[in-house]
Amino acid sequence: MALADEARRVAAEFDFTPDEVRNSVKEFIRQMDEGLQKDGTELSQIPTYVTAVPNGTEKGLYMAVDLGGTNFRVCSIQLHGNSTFSLTQSKVAIPRELMVAKTSKELFSFLAKQIEAFLKEHHSNHYHGHIRRRRTTSLEGGFKDEEIFSLGFTFSFPVRQIGINKGILMRWTKGFDIADAVGQDVCALLQNEIDALHLPVRVAALVNDTVGTLMARSYTSPGKTGTLLGAIFGTGTNGAYVEKLDKVTKLKADNEAVYDQSTGEMIVNTEWGSFDNGLKVLPNTPYDAELDKNTPNPGIQMFEKRVSGMFLGEILRRAVISLVKNPDVPLFKDENSATNDVHSTTTIDATSPLWKEWGLDTSFLSITEADASQGLRVTRQTLDRDYGISAASVEDAEAVKVIARAIGRRAARLSAVPIAAIVLATGKLNNSSASTTSDHPATAGSVPRGSGPSDAGKDDVSEDDVIDIGVDGSLVEFYPGFEEYIREALREVPEIGAAGEKRIRIGIAKDGSGVGAALIALVAGKVAADAEE
Ligand code: BGC
Repeated sequence: MALADEARRVAAEFDFTPDEVRNSVKEFIRQMDEGLQKDGTELSQIPTYVTAVPNGTEKGLYMAVDLGGTNFRVCSIQLHGNSTFSLTQSKVAIPRELMVAKTSKELFSFLAKQIEAFLKEHHSNHYHGHIRRRRTTSLEGGFKDEEIFSLGFTFSFPVRQIGINKGILMRWTKGFDIADAVGQDVCALLQNEIDALHLPVRVAALVNDTVGTLMARSYTSPGKTGTLLGAIFGTGTNGAYVEKLDKVTKLKADNEAVYDQSTGEMIVNTEWGSFDNGLKVLPNTPYDAELDKNTPNPGIQMFEKRVSGMFLGEILRRAVISLVKNPDVPLFKDENSATNDVHSTTTIDATSPLWKEWGLDTSFLSITEADASQGLRVTRQTLDRDYGISAASVEDAEAVKVIARAIGRRAARLSAVPIAAIVLATGKLNNSSASTTSDHPATAGSVPRGSGPSDAGKDDVSEDDVIDIGVDGSLVEFYPGFEEYIREALREVPEIGAAGEKRIRIGIAKDGSGVGAALIALVAGKVAADAEE
C-alpha cells in the first residue's frame, strides 16, 4: 500500500464538512437555549452572578490564584486605576498524583502552601506584619479588612455557582478525579486550608477562567466595543458570554438567587466542553471512541475531547499506531526485519512514549504543522529526540504531518461552532453602526499580546460593528493557523458569511484569567461594601 494514500485516508476520517458545521451551529443554539431554561442539560449554561464589567478606573492590590488544568498560578495584581496594572506571579505544575488524590484536602492544602510561599516571597511586609499583629494584638472582631488580601479564585472546572464566592463542584474534567470534592463548595475547601495556615487572605470571588478572560479582555481591549465572549482553547475548552438577564429563565425561577439586576445582563459560563455529549452532531472516529473509553469520564466532555490540547496528541497517537500496526502500511517500518512482531518490525524504539497512552504531546501537532524545513527535518528530529524513532523517512514524516494537520484542522473547525452560535444567538450581527451603542465601555490596558490572534486587521469594519472575542490557551496561541481555520468555518455558516466573519475580532487575552479574577474580586468587594452601607 502506498503510505501517502493511507495517510490521506486516515486524514479524511477527520473531515468536518461545511454541512456538519452548519448543523452543529443549529444544535449548539438549541442546546444553549435549553441550558438557560433548566438544570441538568448538556450545555450547563451556568449563571456566574457577574453582572457588570470594569471600566478601567478600579484601583487596589488584589490576589488571584488559578487552578487550570496543568499549572497552578498565584499572582498579585496592582490595579493602577487608569486601565493599566502590574502583575507579579509564580507558577507550579500540579503534581499528577494530586490530580487524582484520595482526598480533596491533599490538593487544597498544596494550593494554600503555594499561596503562603508566594506571600513570603513577594509580599513579605504584608505577610510578616499580619503574623506580628496576630501575635501582639487581641482586637475584638479581628483585623480591619484592608489588612486582608481579597483573592479571586479562578477554578477552571464546572461549578454550580450559588453566589459570587460560593460554588459546588459538579464534575471534574481534564484528567482530574478526586471523588470527595464533587458536591462541595470549592471556595470553602480553599478558605479552610488558607485559614489553617493563618494567611491574611479571603477568598472573595470564584471565577471560571473563561469569565476571567472575558473580564480582562473587556478591561483591556482596544476600542469602545464591549467584549461578547471569553473563550479558552488550551488544555480544556470552554466559553463564557454576556447574556440578557431575561433569557436566563432558570435563574429567575430561583427565588433564593441574589444578584444585581441593574445592568440587565449576566455573564453565563456555557461549559461547552460537554456540548453534544450524546453525539448527535459531533464527528466520531474510532480513535475518538477508543480515547473516550480510556478516560475517567467516558461519555462526558465529548466536544472538549475533540478540540482541546489535552486530547489532540492522544488522538494522533492512536491514528498513527493504527497504521504502524498494519503490516501492509510502510510507516516507521524496519525493512530488514523478518519477524511478525509489531515492536521489532518498526523503527520505533520499544521504550518510545508513542506506545503509551497519552505519550504524544499535543505540542507535536504544532511543531509539525509549523515545519517548513527541507525534508521535514524538524519533524524527523523531534520524532527522534522525543519519541525514540531514529530512522523516520521523509515519507514517514509527511504521513504523520498529513494526519496531524487533519486533527488540528478539525479541532479548529469545531471551535468555530460555539463562536458562530453565540454570535448568532445573541443577535450581535443584527446590530450595525447605525443602531448600536456600546454596552461596555472598554479602554486600552496592558495585557501582553501573545504570538497568536492579534486583533488582526478587520480593515474596513467600523469600530462600532466589531464583535470582540477574547481568547486564551495554548492551542489558539501556538497552533499555527488555528484562527484561520476557525474563520474559514465561520464563513461557511450562511447567517455569518464573509461579511459577518470580518466583523468578528478575535484577540488574545494572555493570562487574562488572573487579571479577570482580581477584577471580579474587586467588584465582589464593592458589592459587599454597598450591601453593608
Ligand atoms: C472546564 C471548564 C474550563 C475549561 C478551560 C474545561 O475542562 O470544564 O470549566 O473553563 O476546561 O480551562
